[in-house]
Amino acid sequence: MSFQSKPRILFNRQQIEATVKKLAAEISKDYQGKSPLLVGILKGSFMFMADLIRLLDFPLEVEFIRLSSYGRGKESSGKVKVVQGLQSQVKGKDILVIEDIVDTGLTISFLLDYLRKKKPASLKLCALTDKPSRRQTPVTIDYLGFTVPDKFLVGYGLDWDEKFRNLPDICVLEDN
Ligand code: IMP
Ligand code: MG
Repeated sequence: MSFQSKPRILFNRQQIEATVKKLAAEISKDYQGKSPLLVGILKGSFMFMADLIRLLDFPLEVEFIRLSSYGRGKESSGKVKVVQGLQSQVKGKDILVIEDIVDTGLTISFLLDYLRKKKPASLKLCALTDKPSRRQTPVTIDYLGFTVPDKFLVGYGLDWDEKFRNLPDICVLEDN
């Protein structure tokens, strides 16, 4: 792949909008009477988070956490560390983690373990996309947008080498 690789639309903006609406309805139903802390994983979740929370009709807080994998390879090494942590307290709160894509599952498993140790009242996961064919560790996704094939995705926040996050559709990056 290179910067010249051509993104091909997999899910267009109308499909994304409909799916985000569906997720917001499910989440709104489950969190009525609560005021959860939504934790977005940087950077990939920023666009999804921005669209999702505008459709949620209950009081909530927003935080972001930045993780990095040790090592430089494109594959997730599984050795994850917190680069930028949370300012808010987690203990006793209803936590909803917002992720762009669950691939091997190693990153999200690390984060869920990390948050669970802080004793939240509840801990759930909302993922925009899921690539189950690549899973290395089991992950329960409470709210899922799209199941995707084993292709490299960009757009709507997802990047390849920091590029293409700005595309409004979810695209597959194809070699030319
Ligand atoms: P995991 O630890 O393998 O599940 O990796 C998850 C992280 O890798 C995601 O949060 C993304 O940042 C990145 N990632 C995995 N697959 C893709 C993809 O197809 N496009 C862009 N980023 C991806
Ligand atoms: Mg990510």
